[in-house]
Amino acid sequence: MDSEVERARILIEALPYIRKFNGQTMVIKYGGHAMVDDKLKKGFALDIILMKYVGLNPVVVHGGGPQIGEFLGKMSIKSNFVRGHRVTDEKTMDVVEMVLAGKVNKEIVATINQHGGQAVGLSGKDGHLITARKLQFVSGPETGDRFDNPPEIIDIGLVGEVVSVNDRIIKSLIDSGFIPVIAPVGVGKDNETYNINADLVAGHIASSLKARKLILLTDIEGVLGRDGNLITSLTAEDANHMIADGSIKEGMIPKLQCSLEALKGGVEKVHVIDGRKEHSLLLEIFTDRGVGTEIVPN
Ligand SMILES: Nc1ncnc2c1ncn2[C@@H]1O[C@H](COP(=O)(O)OP(=O)(O)OP(=O)(O)O)[C@@H](O)[C@H]1O
Ligand SMILES: [Mg+2]
Repeated sequence: MDSEVERARILIEALPYIRKFNGQTMVIKYGGHAMVDDKLKKGFALDIILMKYVGLNPVVVHGGGPQIGEFLGKMSIKSNFVRGHRVTDEKTMDVVEMVLAGKVNKEIVATINQHGGQAVGLSGKDGHLITARKLQFVSGPETGDRFDNPPEIIDIGLVGEVVSVNDRIIKSLIDSGFIPVIAPVGVGKDNETYNINADLVAGHIASSLKARKLILLTDIEGVLGRDGNLITSLTAEDANHMIADGSIKEGMIPKLQCSLEALKGGVEKVHVIDGRKEHSLLLEIFTDRGVGTEIVPN
């Protein structure tokens, strides 16, 4: 086929998806390597802008683990992780908020805007977006403890969980043509600040907005089985089993938990995709090629 026809064919291939997803909200969790590498950062910004201009409503929720780690390192503040959550004291929380809501959030907003989009950054504190409470952690097999140890409450500090999402500010931004970019910081009832895993925030926001899809970009091909092979499709029930039997560990735990939460909340499909591959987001949405793992209701 001559190359011009081939180029036109590629555009036409996207047409059914553009039609199907017109006016639909897609929540994208942006994290890992795609947030660090310059080429991938630009690729991500372009994918989001294209989604917006062809009539979808992308909403970005970002992480920032490595960036927080880097700043904590510079300030010689040490931290530990429990089940993918950073143990967060007050000093750590200050750095987390500065890095997430300040540096990382504004950098993503600026990159999208530099390439022709109109992004607006928010943290969970803006417009009462995310109300949070302290996450209560009880040790057990999932935390890596042995079954014969008595369960014990583990204090992980100012790590929060989402109590409620007030999505009015997101909706008004979408209605005005903006791309909301959200930092995963929440506020408690006594005005305390909480660090919340970005996957969990993305799941709650996707449910609240009744998003069509929740897409989680990460640093791995997708969800891997015990044999290390990529699982292309999972039901909610499979995902529950994989968490319970320990095949899912560390940072993948909140990803599957938030997927289950989002599916329960009415999101049609969740995708865990490889953010290390340029334009994986675009390929997932606008082509027949499934990338990574899709998680669907039972
Ligand atoms: N069964 C599994 N399949 C895939 N990844 C797994 C599995 N079990 C554990 N993991 C780990 O989960 C990691 C993904 O979560 P992680 O929190 O590290 O990344 P992220 O959420 O994309 O980035 P960030 O937290 O910085 O936003 C993988 O890189 C892998 O090491
Ligand atoms: Mg993570």
